[in-house]
Amino acid sequence: MSKPRIWPFGGGLRKAPFTQKLSAIAAEGAREAGAEVTLIELRDFPMPLFDEDIEAKIGKPDEARRLKDLFLSHQGLIIASPEYNSSYSAALKNAIDWVSRSDSPDEPPISALAGKSAVVMATSPGGLGGLRGLVPLRMLLSNLGITLLPDQIAIPSAFNAFGPDGHLVDPKQAAAVKDLGAKLAEQLKKASS
Ligand SMILES: Cc1cc2nc3c(=O)[nH]c(=O)nc-3n(C[C@H](O)[C@H](O)[C@H](O)COP(=O)(O)O)c2cc1C
Repeated sequence: MSKPRIWPFGGGLRKAPFTQKLSAIAAEGAREAGAEVTLIELRDFPMPLFDEDIEAKIGKPDEARRLKDLFLSHQGLIIASPEYNSSYSAALKNAIDWVSRSDSPDEPPISALAGKSAVVMATSPGGLGGLRGLVPLRMLLSNLGITLLPDQIAIPSAFNAFGPDGHLVDPKQAAAVKDLGAKLAEQLKKASS
């Protein structure tokens, strides 16, 4: 049985963001549970705001195409979402809009997204840790045919929660985040056996 492939990423574009640190911790759990993990940040795929006129003119920008390939080559997603005004980031939605588009008339839309499995988590400097943004994020992902694990976690007070090495200071929180990554890996292993 081949290892499930999981892509963990933070949903924002900021350099050295809390959410990327969070996704890297969940990635450790997924790796320890037997997954192959690709650590690439969303900010490595700069792309314009989705616009059907751009699409009609040039198709997909190279970064959107590379990002779609990344979705296609992974069965699992670990999404650590920042919260912007009670929701997920515009960068994440924009990336999903580009990736959702088919590249030929016989390719159904959202085929790079539907059928994936995902686990979501959040962190923010605020007291709720980005929890409110996970509600619309879950709705978006499940409407796209992505199976979401019921468990999730939100880490509040991000400036104090993460140490200078990028790890979570509280070992219980760190274990819970790693466990989410491991659960996704286990689910994918079960599905492919
Ligand atoms: C426009 C804007 C809106 C924000 N709205 C929220 C919010 O609704 N809730 C929250 O907890 N934090 C909010 N924040 C703070 C972000 O969660 C914070 O900048 C966080 O560190 C971003 O995630 P990152 O570190 O992964 O980039 C907001 C920040 C900005 C710039």
